[in-house]
Amino acid sequence: MNTEMLDRLSEQGRGFLGIRYPFICGAMTWVSEPTLVAAVSNAGGFGCLAAGNMPCDLLEKQINETRNLTDKPIGVNLITIAPMYRDHLELVSKLEVPFVIFAGSFPRRSEMRVAKDAGAKVLCFASTHSIAERMIRYGADALILEGMEAGGHVGRVTLAILLQQVLFEISDVPVFVAGGIATGRMCAHLFLMGASGVQLGTRFAIAEESPAHPDFKRAFIRAQARDAVATPQFDSRLPVVAVRALRNDATGDFSKLQLELMDELNRGTITREQAQNRVEEFWMGRLRLAVVDGDITRGSLMAGQSVGLVSGEMKVQEIMDELLADTEAELRRVRDLIC
Ligand SMILES: Cc1cc2nc3c(=O)[nH]c(=O)nc-3n(C[C@H](O)[C@H](O)[C@H](O)COP(=O)(O)O)c2cc1C
Repeated sequence: MNTEMLDRLSEQGRGFLGIRYPFICGAMTWVSEPTLVAAVSNAGGFGCLAAGNMPCDLLEKQINETRNLTDKPIGVNLITIAPMYRDHLELVSKLEVPFVIFAGSFPRRSEMRVAKDAGAKVLCFASTHSIAERMIRYGADALILEGMEAGGHVGRVTLAILLQQVLFEISDVPVFVAGGIATGRMCAHLFLMGASGVQLGTRFAIAEESPAHPDFKRAFIRAQARDAVATPQFDSRLPVVAVRALRNDATGDFSKLQLELMDELNRGTITREQAQNRVEEFWMGRLRLAVVDGDITRGSLMAGQSVGLVSGEMKVQEIMDELLADTEAELRRVRDLIC
């Protein structure tokens, strides 16, 4: 496929990741397992394993399994607020994983150092301009801007704002963008705005190679964009990161959990940290229930608003081909419009 215009616009991002096409499949806990990750990397994109809260021996097995399925670059996504995080960081350093993506909250300078000393390039999320600057000062080699339209744990700002606040202002490192992106036509405009690459989650979650339960995938295919809602925070004494997921019993159960935890906090029977750990355990468990067991009522159907733009299960290669063709076609349309 001729991707001449896309190639020109995405040179920096492709060079940084060492890949053919500037499309990243964002890490998704329980979903981004070796088969999906390798399929994306083998199709010329960039696949990321999700460490989630996996036991270390399982994560090591998954890294090795992925390496057996592809010789192309891959990344490992670490959740800084996961109980196993420290051990995960040591493991990816020991295994010399080439790209480490820090997610959850913002990593410390010393934590980035551990990954970089082991030879990894480090990517961090940035939800404001000042955080972007801090992450670069700490040593981030690239940034990911994820708008609140995204699936999973999300910030409070839309991608449209982050593009103007951060992408347009930062030129020191490659900047990748995510959240609510599902079409090549949209990708074309993000590349024109200066994005080094585009990260998609929801669209790849229902790829044929995704291990997600068929009922999980069917729920995504049926859903509208408005069904993917972000959870509220009830009280500032219990700060919780919002989660965007399809509305179901898990959404209501999370509200009940927050009230219970607030009650325990008021009575002094738990600390804020313990309460936040309970929240994280809730989401990890409920996501597993949906993705692995297919319980789409009680499990968490984490999905971006881009869920309203997906219409069926496709092979990773087909998704990639469609993204490439549509991105290139839109870039040519824009060129012809202007020239
Ligand atoms: C089911 C699911 C699980 C996710 N888990 C993670 C995760 O473990 N780590 C992370 O950094 N992002 C996670 N994300 C976010 C994705 O990596 C990606 O940035 C996001 O899905 C992009 O928005 P989109 O869904 O609109 O494409 C998850 C998203 C989904 C849908």
